[in-house]
Amino acid sequence: MMFDSHCHLNDEALYPRIDEVINDAKKTGVSKFLVVGYNKESSELAVKIASKYEECYAAIGFHPCDIFDISEEDFLSTMNLISNKKVVAIGEIGLDYHWEKEESRRNLQKEYFIRQIEFANEHHLPISIHNRESNEDCLNILKEHKPLFGGVMHCYSGSVEMLKTVLDLGLHISLGGPVTFTNAKTPKEVAEVVPLEKLLIETDCPYLTPHPHRGEKNEPKYICLVSEEIARLKDISKKHVDQVTYENACRLFNIHE
Ligand code: NI
Repeated sequence: MMFDSHCHLNDEALYPRIDEVINDAKKTGVSKFLVVGYNKESSELAVKIASKYEECYAAIGFHPCDIFDISEEDFLSTMNLISNKKVVAIGEIGLDYHWEKEESRRNLQKEYFIRQIEFANEHHLPISIHNRESNEDCLNILKEHKPLFGGVMHCYSGSVEMLKTVLDLGLHISLGGPVTFTNAKTPKEVAEVVPLEKLLIETDCPYLTPHPHRGEKNEPKYICLVSEEIARLKDISKKHVDQVTYENACRLFNIHE
C-alpha cells in the first residue's frame, strides 16, 4: 500500500479522467491520495473529490503564487471548507522566490503563509509546505510560527545540512519525482540519510514526473518509481518504504482507517 501525500487530481490535466487515473494508481498499490489545493477553485474541487472518493483526502489553502489579488471574502470562504470532515491539512502554503522577485510581493507571501499556519494551528491541522528558493525566510517563519500539529516540506529540495533544522522543527519531509532523476545528486543524498519515520512520498502530479517518464504528464501510478529509488538508496525493501511512509502519512494527517 502506498499513500500519495501530495497530488493534484484537481488539476485540469488530470481531473477530466480522474476515474481512470485513480484506478490505474490503485492497480500499482496506491490506496490513499491527498489532493492538494492551491487557490479557491482548486481547494473547492479537492473537497469535492475527497467527498466523492473514499480513498481521497483534501488539503485546502493558497499557494504563494496564488495569494495576489484575492479578496478577503474568497480567502474566508475557501478556509471555511475546513468544516468538511475529509479536509486533513492546510496546503499548499509557503513561499516561492523563484517566481516572485519583488520585495513587497514576497512580503505579502509571508503574510499569507503566517496567516495560514495560524489558521491550521487554531483548527488542529498539519500543513503542507511549498518552499522554492526561499529557505531562510521559510525556516525563520516556521521557527517563529511553529506548526503545532506538524507538517511536511513537500517535495523537499534542500540540502542534507538543512534537513536537521527541518527535522528539529518536528516536520516531515516528502520526496517525489526528482529523487529518480539521473542527475539529482542532492535529493538522493537526502533520501539516504532522512530517518524513514520522518519520510513521506508523493507525486505532485501532474508535475515532476519520475524517470524514465520525464516529459509525460505525471500521475499517482508513477509513485512506485519514487519508492523504488528510495528503497535502493536506503538499501531496504520497497515494501518497507511503502509501509512506513503510508503509516507516517496516516499519522500526520490523522487518518485512522
Ligand atoms: Ni503541489
